[in-house]
Amino acid sequence: MHGTDDIATELQHLGEEEPFPYGAVTPPIVQTSLFTARTLRERHASAGMEGIYHYSRVSNPTVELAERKIAALEGTERALLFASGMAAIASTLLTFLKTGDHVICVENAYPPTRVLLGEWLPRFGVEASFIPGTEVAQFADVQRPNTRLLYLESPTSLTFQLQDLQAVASWARAHGMLTLCDNSWATPLFQNPHALGVDLVLHSASKYLGGHSDLVAGAVAGRTELIQQIARTRELLGSILEPFGAWLLIRGLRTLPVRMQRLQQNGLQVAQWLAKQPFVAQLNHPGLPSHPQHALAQRQMRGYGSLFSLRTQPLTDEQAYTFTDHLRLFRFGPSWGGYESLLIGWGEGEPDSEGRRRWFFRLYIGLEHPDDLIRDLQQAAHQAGFDTLE
Ligand SMILES: Cc1ncc(COP(=O)(O)O)c(C=O)c1O
Repeated sequence: MHGTDDIATELQHLGEEEPFPYGAVTPPIVQTSLFTARTLRERHASAGMEGIYHYSRVSNPTVELAERKIAALEGTERALLFASGMAAIASTLLTFLKTGDHVICVENAYPPTRVLLGEWLPRFGVEASFIPGTEVAQFADVQRPNTRLLYLESPTSLTFQLQDLQAVASWARAHGMLTLCDNSWATPLFQNPHALGVDLVLHSASKYLGGHSDLVAGAVAGRTELIQQIARTRELLGSILEPFGAWLLIRGLRTLPVRMQRLQQNGLQVAQWLAKQPFVAQLNHPGLPSHPQHALAQRQMRGYGSLFSLRTQPLTDEQAYTFTDHLRLFRFGPSWGGYESLLIGWGEGEPDSEGRRRWFFRLYIGLEHPDDLIRDLQQAAHQAGFDTLE
């Protein structure tokens, strides 16, 4: 740590003060399963010492370098990396939950997280309640004497509802509950749940942190005391990230500040254009003043991700597919956080007597020029017979 340096500088230099072998600019990928000592005596003498590694399922220098940068980004004492975001989420939940515990989770959290809590953990006697999470009172309403943990995701990544992180974390602390928050959408550049009182911050590093759609990874950040317990679970489950993944993450993190500034601008520009279009009934982006929790977003975030969703006016399915068939610059898939714009969507409910229903679309705005993306959306909308405004 250089103490006074900006995070953009830390992402380049933190943990890289000493030259790498051969004066290499990029860190070595320490692609080894095992670390050995020259003598058994030396091995015994160095056991437990900092900077001594034994086996890459437990720890690895390339992985640790990336972990130091994630901890600096989140402003926490420590961070750990995992083979995926779900590995980070599952390993963290399994560390702190036991039979008889109850969890409160936001109902629009990432669907596999909901399945883990609502369908999989009940096999081990852990129960979960799901609530919108938009008011602290909703947590109090479902609280039980055995509520151990609150699972937050702010904003949620399909419907973009927020939780008041400071208020929820302080309520949880007063009741002796642990708080976890998925911060993948805002990234640590735009939101630091730990600074607002949340105990553990989770990331799918497969999204913005990796940033190039070539990495599946996850992270958890928090106090050393909690992180040490999660490290033990990671060792037992074998859920650590491999060194090459950590190296890709270090490379992605170097450009995170420049990417996020541009992605935020691009996302807002495209969302503002779409919000004006007659075929759009509702647009969910916490950065737009029309979002019901915009004031909270401004208070607890410093910026916005470029993933948002919308509901259309009633359309025929053929119109919806004609619109998406004509998009030239969007690809169709559910992940996000890379350089490329993406869209997923589906019709909601049964069609009315004229064969129309509302469609839900989630758009990820990438690093293309936003004017090109708007032109693309406009021409596809014309092909589908929608009126558009400039
Ligand atoms: C908000 C959110 N959290 C967690 C995850 C899980 O991350 P991973 O796919 O890296 O396991 C995802 C993945 O799509 C996500 O969108």
